[in-house]
Amino acid sequence: MTVKSSREPARAELAKLGEAELLEVIRAQPVPAHVAVIMDGNGRWATRRGLPRVAGHREGVKAARAAVRAADTLGLQYLTLYAFSTENWSRPKQEVSTLMTLLERSIHGELPELMERNVRLRIIGRPNGVPPPVQRGIDEVVRQTERNTGLTLVMAFNYGGRDELIDAFRLVARRVASGELQPEDISEVHVSRALYTKDIPNPDLLIRTSGEMRVSNFLLWQIAYTELWITPTLWPDFGGADLYRAVLEFQGRTRRFGGV
Ligand code: IPE
Ligand code: IPE
Ligand code: MG
Repeated sequence: MTVKSSREPARAELAKLGEAELLEVIRAQPVPAHVAVIMDGNGRWATRRGLPRVAGHREGVKAARAAVRAADTLGLQYLTLYAFSTENWSRPKQEVSTLMTLLERSIHGELPELMERNVRLRIIGRPNGVPPPVQRGIDEVVRQTERNTGLTLVMAFNYGGRDELIDAFRLVARRVASGELQPEDISEVHVSRALYTKDIPNPDLLIRTSGEMRVSNFLLWQIAYTELWITPTLWPDFGGADLYRAVLEFQGRTRRFGGV
């Protein structure tokens, strides 16, 4: 049985507000510290318009910029964007290389605004496999923004949740092999600290665009108790108001963490 609080209809009405009004409403309540986003649907956005898939990726960059601005304006501490998965290498060569160039160029192009907004860029994922010039370009932005103290923008790039767990197991196994750690003493803390996200809190809210009901190898350990919000909107059409709508709905949820 679903029990609806008397505030639910009001929340549905509020969701129709524009970006500025929504911002005002959600700011009046605690906002999540960490929002993660599976930015999906660029290809479909382009195909529906008779355009090549890469046109959707180009448009997707604009949506990512809007999401960063909205997250910063709202005062989120962490925004994680899933930009390229380990499985995305299986796409046509041309699409992969365009994505690589686009990601590196757009991250670099955003540097002045990231500095202005005091945003710190971090990357999670395996650096090996990424073309060296792309890796160098991204590393440069990470270095330049590392002292910024505002929003932390986490880009999941060449990221796979299973690879992250494998890398964590390797780290923990090394500690056990060296005698520093006993197998029976391994706890959640040891695993969490061995992940790429070791000093980042788990996401409170996970957004997926384009309507797919799956997690696609994203933050498998970290999303154990994350609230999910899935919208049919394709990523290039996702704007700041959509991010705020997700937060509005999050604020109406009851998180139980297995309790009552
Ligand atoms: C998301 O859009 C971007 C990446 C995965 C890099 P897609 O390219 O997956 O778009 P669809 O899902 O095919 O529409
Ligand atoms: C997830 O989207 C990966 C990114 C958004 C980078 P995909 O389009 O790769 O996921 P699937 O293939 O639909 O599961
Ligand atoms: Mg997709």
